[in-house]
Amino acid sequence: MNFFETIEARQSIRAFQNKTVEPEKLDALLNAINRAPSAGNCQAYQVYVVRDPEMKKKFAEAALRQEFVAQAPVVLIFCLDPARAARYGKRGEQLYCQQDAAIAVAYAQLAATALGLATCWVGAFNEESVSRAAGLPAEHRPVAILPIGYAAEQPPRSSRRTIEDLVRELR
Ligand SMILES: Cc1cc2nc3c(=O)[nH]c(=O)nc-3n(C[C@H](O)[C@H](O)[C@H](O)COP(=O)(O)O)c2cc1C
Repeated sequence: MNFFETIEARQSIRAFQNKTVEPEKLDALLNAINRAPSAGNCQAYQVYVVRDPEMKKKFAEAALRQEFVAQAPVVLIFCLDPARAARYGKRGEQLYCQQDAAIAVAYAQLAATALGLATCWVGAFNEESVSRAAGLPAEHRPVAILPIGYAAEQPPRSSRRTIEDLVRELR
């Protein structure tokens, strides 16, 4: 799959096979995340890898009972680490760390697709419950849950706005 085929192939998957993710695939995915750009190269986020079934169940519960979170063999939790971007003041602590974490999630999703894996970005969750379940330090605010595994469904492709609507040329 070339880059543009990978972009076309990625879609949110909300059902996973009962099949382990090979450690070398997870390594490749984590390395792809680590190549993501970040403001001032601060990488102002932290990634947690979770395989523990009980913990995953708690995440699913915290994510408004999105049960597929617990079904995935591996779950990544992306957290902000604003202190790493503190050298940029408020902009670093409130904006750059968010952008750093978001692009890392996007890299993870594309890398997963290229590896034949499936993901779904889960943003609807109770932060406190996830923090408690994962035992996160106070300075790491969870912003995205990413279940990863082999797809057990093939949903229809989601639609998009037209380019004409999405993009405006300034003259
Ligand atoms: C910030 C963000 C939060 C999201 N939260 C959820 C979520 O909580 N549950 C879910 O099922 N999908 C969630 N999604 C996935 C979107 O619904 C999905 O990306 C969108 O509908 C487009 O579909 P596609 O990913 O298949 O192209 C989220 C996506 C993003 C970027």
